[in-house]
Amino acid sequence: MSDFAELHYEGQTYKLPVVVGTENEKALDISKLRGESGLITIDPGFKNTGSTKSAITFLDGEKGILRYRGYPIEQLAEKSSFLEVAYLIIFGELPTKAELEEWTSDITYHTLIHEDFKRILEGFPSNSHPMGVLSSLVTSLTAFYPESLDPSRSADEVRMSIVRLLAKMPTLAAWSYKNEIGQPTVYPDNNLDYGGNFLRMMFATPAEGFEVDPIVSDALNKLLILHAEHEQNCSTSTVRIVGSSHASLYASVSAGINALWGPLHGGANQAVIEMLENIKADGGDTDKYLAKAKDKDDPFRLMGFGHRVYKNFDPRARIIKKAADEVLAKLGVNDPVLDIAKRLEEAALQDPYFVERKLYPNVDFYSGIIYRALGIPTNMFTVMFAMGRLPGWIAQWREMRKNGEPIGRPRQVYTGENERHYVDVNQR
Ligand code: ACO
Repeated sequence: MSDFAELHYEGQTYKLPVVVGTENEKALDISKLRGESGLITIDPGFKNTGSTKSAITFLDGEKGILRYRGYPIEQLAEKSSFLEVAYLIIFGELPTKAELEEWTSDITYHTLIHEDFKRILEGFPSNSHPMGVLSSLVTSLTAFYPESLDPSRSADEVRMSIVRLLAKMPTLAAWSYKNEIGQPTVYPDNNLDYGGNFLRMMFATPAEGFEVDPIVSDALNKLLILHAEHEQNCSTSTVRIVGSSHASLYASVSAGINALWGPLHGGANQAVIEMLENIKADGGDTDKYLAKAKDKDDPFRLMGFGHRVYKNFDPRARIIKKAADEVLAKLGVNDPVLDIAKRLEEAALQDPYFVERKLYPNVDFYSGIIYRALGIPTNMFTVMFAMGRLPGWIAQWREMRKNGEPIGRPRQVYTGENERHYVDVNQR
């Protein structure tokens, strides 16, 4: 095997080193190409560009493989807890019993947020989308913990910022929701586990307490694990690129939350349920909507279908589909929107348009369905995704900093006007 490729251009030959990953993934290193040849490469949407070397997640979109730090997602979703997986993703190894106890206790201890946060929260109109509120609140952490602004501080201080962020995220997320519906906020109960505490802060009211249903909290644990990390996707790349300017962890993650919000990324789980509701309100004609999705003159897309990297199946979708069936059966949920989802899925999987383009249900197709069954309101679906993805964002930000990566700054091919001369406004 050659360890470089050759590029021939205008009589010159340029050698491009081949970089090989631990799973034998190969890439051409073009980092010196511009200096040597004056050429850049162009790749809108970075469909074919590796932005970094990373030791966190391996995925093979053709084979449907996803592993965090080498461990298959199926094993982690089956056997592990979200905080254990978070530790693995961030620090690279599964924690020992003592490490896990310390980690869990540290995170549990820091769930409370400063009372002044309430004044920030009150500044938002009720009905504000909780994603916008959450990203603002995460940025606001910088004001309460100014030492977090300098990410080059000691490893212990960075660990403290990480613990605080993981600990406070469910509180901030639940409070964003309480603000939206105009209810008083509920303080964390540190006798509960990570997911149970979040559910209580979401659903308890001054009039009624809240009992955590173990079926719901187990399903939540699985969902958080399945969303925990997914290498260089839109929001994670955003976190890395913001962090590459040496912005703080909280500022970088807040940017990631905004990137996740869009309906082509994490916002798809909300968009799936809204789409299914629309189809139901329109008489439940799934064929009509399949036809719309295939019509190139119609902007409608089948939300929850297709993925940039998974072209055979999304392994997370497989696990969630099974979990969704179990949870729905156990909770005795009978939801007409689910019948529409099933019909749509069956029809799309047999339709040549979707088969030829390798468009399969992605994680968001089923996660919306399961969140709905767990009683999570639609506007909170993407917030749930953000809570799950937090360890991944943190790990990628930390790895980027530890590797001393340069500031992210792509190039472009300019297609605008050539030089022209200013004309006075009265002569235009
Ligand atoms: N419905 C209908 N057609 C689709 C869909 C869809 N959901 N997704 C892709 N296509 C078609 C495109 O029109 C294109 O057709 P063409 O080749 O005839 O032009 C072809 O399939 C390839 O699609 P691209 O947009 O080039 O694929 P890309 O990798 O850029 O996009 C994406 C991936 C954004 C996920 C896309 O499939 C999509 O918009 N899906 C719906 C939104 C969604 O579910 N997003 C969640 C992704 S998972 C996540 O972020 C956690």
